[in-house]
Amino acid sequence: MYLGLDLGTSGLKAMLIDENQKVIASADAPLTVQRLHHGWSEQNPADWIAACKIAVGRLAERHPAELSAVKGIGLSGHMHGATLVDATGEVLRPCILWNDTRSYVEAAQLDDDPRFRAITGNIVFPGFTAPKLVWVKKNEPETFAKVAKVLLPKDYLRFWLSGEYISEMSDSAGTAWLDTAKRDWSDELLAATDLKREQMPALVEGSEAGGTLKQALASEWGMTGPVVVAGGAGDNAASACGMGTVADGAAFVSLGTSGVLFAANDRYRPKPESAVHAFCHALPGTWHQMGVILSATDTLNWYAKVTDKSPAQLATEVGDTLQAPGDVTFLPYLSGERTPHNDAAIRGAFIGLAHESDRAAMTRAVMEGVAFALRDNLEALRSAGTELSRITAIGGGSRSRYWLKAVATALNLPIDIPADGDFGAAFGAARLGLLAATGADPLAVCTPPETAETVDPETAHTAAFEEAYQRFRALYPAIKTLSG
Ligand code: XUL
Repeated sequence: MYLGLDLGTSGLKAMLIDENQKVIASADAPLTVQRLHHGWSEQNPADWIAACKIAVGRLAERHPAELSAVKGIGLSGHMHGATLVDATGEVLRPCILWNDTRSYVEAAQLDDDPRFRAITGNIVFPGFTAPKLVWVKKNEPETFAKVAKVLLPKDYLRFWLSGEYISEMSDSAGTAWLDTAKRDWSDELLAATDLKREQMPALVEGSEAGGTLKQALASEWGMTGPVVVAGGAGDNAASACGMGTVADGAAFVSLGTSGVLFAANDRYRPKPESAVHAFCHALPGTWHQMGVILSATDTLNWYAKVTDKSPAQLATEVGDTLQAPGDVTFLPYLSGERTPHNDAAIRGAFIGLAHESDRAAMTRAVMEGVAFALRDNLEALRSAGTELSRITAIGGGSRSRYWLKAVATALNLPIDIPADGDFGAAFGAARLGLLAATGADPLAVCTPPETAETVDPETAHTAAFEEAYQRFRALYPAIKTLSG
């Protein structure tokens, strides 16, 4: 048996799979985000541990025999977060998350130093880890002085599980301190932010062993024998392992809290000026590119809150039959935007409201806005030399048929829906746990799921979507001048 733990922004998922990768069970525990100030987004690492205990505890209650047979654990987590611990392993402050934009000034300053783009292959985005540490140094110098280790969220979970300070390539590529081609920390970039290699965890590949479960936890969960903790992956690379998005050109779209267009690459292909991310993949000798939008399902959650409905009610109201975009356009920049704009200050907008703009029209505009932002990402990947012919859909938003049709039509690409099952980050993490424990061939394990159905672009609406996309594109520069 193998256990995948995915520390997501809105909850932690624990998934048990067997030797044949059959899902035995999964359990979730919710998490919340604290937004103390405009642009801030934090979580308390103690809440991750509590959530992990709840989720694994549920598996222990319902499947004690299977849980006790676990031989490998794989970890996945939301990326880029800065979890700061002192020399005794105590957490120094709440974790600053991936969608926290407070360090946009520090990010721009680091990005002005050409070494960052040259060595990491990426823009220094405000969400990345390095500028957060510069912000902490400037605003909380007493905390900065005590930083003994800087850990990514899932690697803090690993520290709790195994007592070891270890990370892996895919998540570390999102810190702005990794030499992405060499798959190693850059001493030069660490020094540019007044940090040293000793303050970073050791690095392994995602499918390699990265620690052993502490005896006390193994006993609590009834596990016998040594339990290997795999390197694991950032949540996007973990999802890619779950979806079999590992061969060059394979791609997925994720409609989660954030929206991601992810393409696997057989070599390192940076294009920082396009705001495309070029990261290490979780398997040795592989890389990937992705475009990231900061608010995907988060937009519908927000609109549901505003209208006092649930996201499911809103989705039911729009139905399943795709309509041509109407007069209302929504810009989904609730937390600023990453690809392609790299703009922490921009905020969302509804444009084109009229008397007849009812709730359903605005829900459709919200979904279309996310679809158009993903089209922006497709154009960014194209400019970075990556052409996609089809994509697979994952994430909570992909349960909405309307949303998938809108994305397929806006991107003019067929979208494959995997056969029943959950092939997301927790499954990918469990696969990495299996690989680390057994030494199996990664390509034989990380295979794509069966396709249940394909959502094709609706040709009757492609011209209308193209026209609406051109309108959408023109709006960003227009509202940017207003947001100062
Ligand atoms: C990727 C990113 C998000 C987070 C949260 O760069 O910021 O996708 O990993 O899931």
